[in-house]
Amino acid sequence: MGFQTRFYQLLLKPAFFRIDPEKIHEKILKTGKFLGSNKITRAIISCCFNYQNKKLNVHLNGIMFPNPVGLAAGFDKNARLMNILPAVGFGFAEFGSMTANASKGNPKPRLFRLPKDNALIVNYGLANDGVEIIAQRVEKNNVIIPFGLSIAKTNDTSIKGNNSIEDYYRSYQRIKNLGAYITINISCPNAGDGRSFEDVKLLGGLLKKIGKQDKMIFLKLSPDIAKKNVDKIINLAEKYKIAGFVVANLTHDRSRLKTPKKEIENKKGGISGMPVREKSAGLLRDIYTKTRGKFILVSVGGIFSAEDAYARIKDGASLVQVVTGMIYKGPGIIKEINKGLVRLMEKEGYKSIQEAVGKNIV
Ligand SMILES: Cc1cc2nc3c(=O)[nH]c(=O)nc-3n(C[C@H](O)[C@H](O)[C@H](O)COP(=O)(O)O)c2cc1C
Repeated sequence: MGFQTRFYQLLLKPAFFRIDPEKIHEKILKTGKFLGSNKITRAIISCCFNYQNKKLNVHLNGIMFPNPVGLAAGFDKNARLMNILPAVGFGFAEFGSMTANASKGNPKPRLFRLPKDNALIVNYGLANDGVEIIAQRVEKNNVIIPFGLSIAKTNDTSIKGNNSIEDYYRSYQRIKNLGAYITINISCPNAGDGRSFEDVKLLGGLLKKIGKQDKMIFLKLSPDIAKKNVDKIINLAEKYKIAGFVVANLTHDRSRLKTPKKEIENKKGGISGMPVREKSAGLLRDIYTKTRGKFILVSVGGIFSAEDAYARIKDGASLVQVVTGMIYKGPGIIKEINKGLVRLMEKEGYKSIQEAVGKNIV
């Protein structure tokens, strides 16, 4: 464990975990924005956290990702940390999910810690500034790592069926020329009308409307998705030349939690962190086995160490993302994962991340 992670675990985490989770999240966003706003603070953070090694470079669709470890959607929905994330050592970041109309989200409290499970319950309900404001924010900055923008359906129960296709499309049109990739979050459990966009008719309607594009588009799947639906979505993705999948979002499965049921029965929302780990890894393996490199796979869910990240890469992921691992172990986890990846690759004789992708799938 590096000094930064020990410092976080001994001093910062106990203090942070005493404060309401959403309040501390807001404070960290504000601090991160400040730290990113000037050269000196960026240089100090970079000195403590950034780790570079050519072996970690990943080239996808003509874009160079300095390393395969990204910030997953949801931590920085409104793209406020654009300037500090590269210094923290991320190889890429995904902002959002953002929606066509701004939304205040669900009533508070809507974020809960489950320390016994190294997990969170998330019920933000897509609180975000809306695609227009976020797009303008992104346009004003020169982000030095590749970034993706995640779009979801506006959290409004009156937007249904074809209108939800229009709603997604409005967001897509606004951001289609920004960033390295766009993720269509079709697995948001909080989209308001109770219907998931993993529904093939709705998704097919949206992809048809988007039509031909050069941009990398990813579909973000739920770890709880039915197996037969995975096949249908893969077929759609092939038909509409989708670049890949982000696997996976929050889970609704509470069956294996260590936290007593009583403690969380009134806490609605999807679960992140360790409880997603097996499901996310299983879905990744399943998709890679079926598609063998036809799609770029981004693995997310319960990644807490270099060993976790390396296993996902060998199971077919070209990139990985973290959120909950960083909340529980601190931002030093990014450097630890990247350093560990180099060590693990060298041990097995791989010269690049891309050489190791899918090597566990026979
Ligand atoms: C606080 C929080 C907010 C999230 N919001 C979003 C979101 O807006 N869009 C999305 O696609 N995923 C969202 N997620 C899901 C994460 O991107 C990720 O898929 C999930 O948490 C599993 O990764 P983890 O175990 O590393 O946290 C959110 C997760 C957390 C913890």
